[in-house]
Amino acid sequence: MALQVELIPTGEIIRVVHPYRPCKLALGSDGVRVTMESALTARDRVGVQDFVLLENFTSEAAFIENLRRRFRENLIYTYIGPVLVSVNPYRDLQIYSRQHMERYRGVSFYEVPPHLFAVADTVYRALRTERRDQAVMISGESGAGKTEATKRLLQFYAETCPAPERGGAVRDRLLQSNPVLEAFGNAKTLRNDNSSRFGKYMDVQFDFKGAPVGGHILSYLLEKSRVVHQNHGERNFHIFYQLLEGGEEEMLRRLGLERNPQSYLYLVKGQCAKVSSINDKSDWKVVRKALTVIDFTEDEVEDLLSIVASVLHLGNTHFAADEESNAQVTTENQLKYLTRLLGVEGSTLREALTHRKIIAKGEELLSPLNLEQAAYARDALSKAIYSRTFTWLVGKINRSLASKDAESPSWRSTTVLGLLDIYGFEVFQHNSFEQFCINYCNEKLQQLFIELTLKSEQEEYEAEGIAWEPVQYFNNKIICDLVEEKFKGIISILDEECLRPGEATDLTFLEKLEETIKHHPHFLTHKLADQRTRKSLDRGEFRLLHYAGEVTYNVTGFLDKNNDLLFRNLKETMCSSKNPIMSQCFDRSELIDKKRPETVATQFKMSLLQLVEILKSKEPAYIRCIKPNDAKQPSRFDEVLIRHQVKYLGLMENLRVRRAGFAYRRKYEAFLQRYKSLCPETWPTWAGRPQDGVAVLVRHLGYKPEEYKMGRTKIFIRFPKTLFATEDALEVRRQSLATKIQAAWRGFHWRQKFLRVKHSAICIQSWWRGTLGRRKAAKRKWAAETIRRLIHGFILRHAPRCPENAFFLDHVRTSFLLNLRRQLPRNVLDTSWPTPPPALREASELLRELCLKNMVWKYCRSISPEWKQQLQQKAVASEIFKGKKDNYPQSVPRLFISTRLGADEISSKVLQALGSEPIQYAVPVVKYDRKGYKPRSRQLLLTPNAVVIVEDAKVKQRIDYANLTGISVSSLSDSLFVLHVQREDNKQKGDVVLQSDHVIETLTKMALSADRVNNININQGSITFAGGPGRDGIIDFTPGSELLITKAKNGHLAVVAPRLNSR
Ligand SMILES: Nc1ncnc2c1ncn2[C@@H]1O[C@H](COP(=O)(O)OP(=O)(O)OP(=O)(O)O)[C@@H](O)[C@H]1O
Ligand SMILES: [Mg+2]
Repeated sequence: MALQVELIPTGEIIRVVHPYRPCKLALGSDGVRVTMESALTARDRVGVQDFVLLENFTSEAAFIENLRRRFRENLIYTYIGPVLVSVNPYRDLQIYSRQHMERYRGVSFYEVPPHLFAVADTVYRALRTERRDQAVMISGESGAGKTEATKRLLQFYAETCPAPERGGAVRDRLLQSNPVLEAFGNAKTLRNDNSSRFGKYMDVQFDFKGAPVGGHILSYLLEKSRVVHQNHGERNFHIFYQLLEGGEEEMLRRLGLERNPQSYLYLVKGQCAKVSSINDKSDWKVVRKALTVIDFTEDEVEDLLSIVASVLHLGNTHFAADEESNAQVTTENQLKYLTRLLGVEGSTLREALTHRKIIAKGEELLSPLNLEQAAYARDALSKAIYSRTFTWLVGKINRSLASKDAESPSWRSTTVLGLLDIYGFEVFQHNSFEQFCINYCNEKLQQLFIELTLKSEQEEYEAEGIAWEPVQYFNNKIICDLVEEKFKGIISILDEECLRPGEATDLTFLEKLEETIKHHPHFLTHKLADQRTRKSLDRGEFRLLHYAGEVTYNVTGFLDKNNDLLFRNLKETMCSSKNPIMSQCFDRSELIDKKRPETVATQFKMSLLQLVEILKSKEPAYIRCIKPNDAKQPSRFDEVLIRHQVKYLGLMENLRVRRAGFAYRRKYEAFLQRYKSLCPETWPTWAGRPQDGVAVLVRHLGYKPEEYKMGRTKIFIRFPKTLFATEDALEVRRQSLATKIQAAWRGFHWRQKFLRVKHSAICIQSWWRGTLGRRKAAKRKWAAETIRRLIHGFILRHAPRCPENAFFLDHVRTSFLLNLRRQLPRNVLDTSWPTPPPALREASELLRELCLKNMVWKYCRSISPEWKQQLQQKAVASEIFKGKKDNYPQSVPRLFISTRLGADEISSKVLQALGSEPIQYAVPVVKYDRKGYKPRSRQLLLTPNAVVIVEDAKVKQRIDYANLTGISVSSLSDSLFVLHVQREDNKQKGDVVLQSDHVIETLTKMALSADRVNNININQGSITFAGGPGRDGIIDFTPGSELLITKAKNGHLAVVAPRLNSR
């Protein structure tokens, strides 16, 4: 089943794509951890994260293939159980940030992808919880990344550990000790531009709270030969170049130096003073700053740099042979500077450089040196000065790192974490004494490694109650013994050769070796080799079969380097140095001590034994660094080189030991936690002991008895394939679980949301109800109060105004006034008016009047002139007839019309006869003859001056208003009227009896035109009128059923007027 995995450069899986069940696991960048096991599913592409899970664990090819796969994906870290294998990426992978530190803090080692920080954190937690000292051993060949790893570890601790209560500067000092040590102890070599030329073991002390409170550094065997000689393409120690590049002019002048490395013989041997990857100038600044942090005073810095400068001056010191072939110093200038910088007598130094002091039979003799010897003595002095200064520097740093609180109680409960960054196994074309020491060191560490790994493996099995099955492995103790054994070991033989009187040389040493250890299976020389191998060995060489491979050493220089001789007079001279650092480095007791100092090899052996003791007393953790190529290039995986390293780092051995028993082991809790979903009985929770749960689980999974063992706290699985099958099953199971979890989560999420909304709604509701209730209560209270006051006021309403009834009275008043607004009369005829309270009676009357006036005023303003005239006429009619004539009420609703005859109905002749006189009103009338009372149809016209009676086209009678003395009508409902005319007017024939259907209208208009409003007589019973000259007529009116106008027998005109209902 192939799974595709997408990765980000940090090595975390961000997407796992299953071929049959498409799924996306959003993991990775945002801190979601991918457990180690889940990455197992990605093994096709990125290999396994732990080599113990390699099916074919004995195959070196499979091992390297796994490394290659991971390296291709920028996954530089892989485990072999608890051991971390690291491949130098030669590029910044951005995997050491603060976030990465946080990600690896406090998590279980196997739950996160392999990382240096995982080791760092595990070690730190073990240190804190178990309170046991820890040691991280970092090994690998030059350029494999040991120093980088050490720095990253220190950085991790500096940034993640709590700060100590006092002396917080320790953290800075721990970090800053690095650049200083690197400046003095590192150099560019062919293998590494920043190669550590000394071994380093650093202890960091933590107080009981886990804060770093102090530190201590042990250094091992500085490669001091580099001071006077470098191979082609290599450099001297960084500090020389940094000083020349970065030192201020003034300082260089004081030290007598030129800003040019080419001027110094000790710096030109390798012919590569400038290296593109190194910035000496900026490094100088870092070193200068670091010196201050680690407590260097300005004077101390000056003294230290004087020594560095003096080494350069020594390198430029030349000799010439005098007549007797004795060497003489020719470079006076250098001598002058040396005298000043080292604080020694010029003459003493000159003598010491060119003579050797021999003590024979208690007498001191000075023997001159030849040129070669003088050069040798000078170089020996340079090396001694530099290496002792380096040792002093380490001491100085240690004083600065030492906890200032050593006396406090917390100091006693400190725990120590050791970091070992030591040179890895080295094989060159030509290997010398240094390689011999270095490789011996690696043998010792390998032995310790095997011992401790096997021991811990064994201890684990014992602790878990599982039968220990002996593991076949190569124990390199035999090689360690070959080197270090007393009397028979190579070091002993070398020391013996160095010490014995007589002509001891490197070759006699070789012979001695051949003689003493010729039967040793790991030792070979030209002489001891068989025909075939002899070809690959020179006569001056011996070969050791190290655990990591064969190395051929050339014995040239072994004795010299082991003796490390510095002529006595040079020592004496240096002991008298005024430079405080030099005087500490060269102690007078050395001169007095008659005992020969220990040889270099013995010193180294002893320091290694001590180191092994230190490491043994601590819980070990391992980081095995591998260099992927010699070109220092990223993404290049040189298989031959890597295979070699895998071999000599003993990684296969390591894996075999680890796999000898079981490939995989986990605490029951962790195992059950991870796989419980695969068994219905253990899912979702197992109530019993985890161990029983695991038993049920593995039975359900069908594990065969030979595939696993149950320990006391852990399950041990023998083959990776068993685990992988379980992993695959889990991966499939996960999909369905993920869906279920998603659904459950969504349900939960929405339910939570719903409950929140519901709760909020209830809150709002209750708040609102509260508000409404309070408002209502307030209103009720107010209402009750008001009613109470009203009742009170009502009871006292007749009393004079007082506080008790004031409200009521005001209320009555206000409500009357407010109601009044709505109950005002609608028109002038509406006489309704609300009854006012007693206090407002007068005001009410005034208001009523005002209101009426206002209505009238409004009415008047709104009426048209025609209507006004109509009303005026109606008013006049009312004045005249109201209550006096029976048919008046019937006329009231009928409008008066301006005229009852149109202009076309009046003859033009009449109009002509009237001339300019306008006709104001015309109406058809019936005229009754004065004698016979014959009715005749006539037209009655009113002009401004007269009443005109017209018969067809003829004006029959014109009565000027002046002659109209009165008008008479009856009080009944008839429509007769009589116009009384002036008798004196002869033209007039007498009064005129007329009848109009519109009698009220006609008479009103006439009365108005003739101004005879007061001259209308309304008679009861009868009217007398002048019928002609000297003869009066009488009209009798009687009420009857219908209108009847006849001439009565008595000669009167009898008018029966119908009775009207209204009367
Ligand atoms: N983890 C890493 N990430 C990026 N670059 C690295 C890493 N480790 C090492 N390097 C690169 O490799 C170079 C060599 O590493 P380092 O100096 O640590 O090697 P070393 O094992 O200490 O070698 P030596 O034994 O010579 O001191 C570093 O200068 C750096 O450029
Ligand atoms: Mg290093």
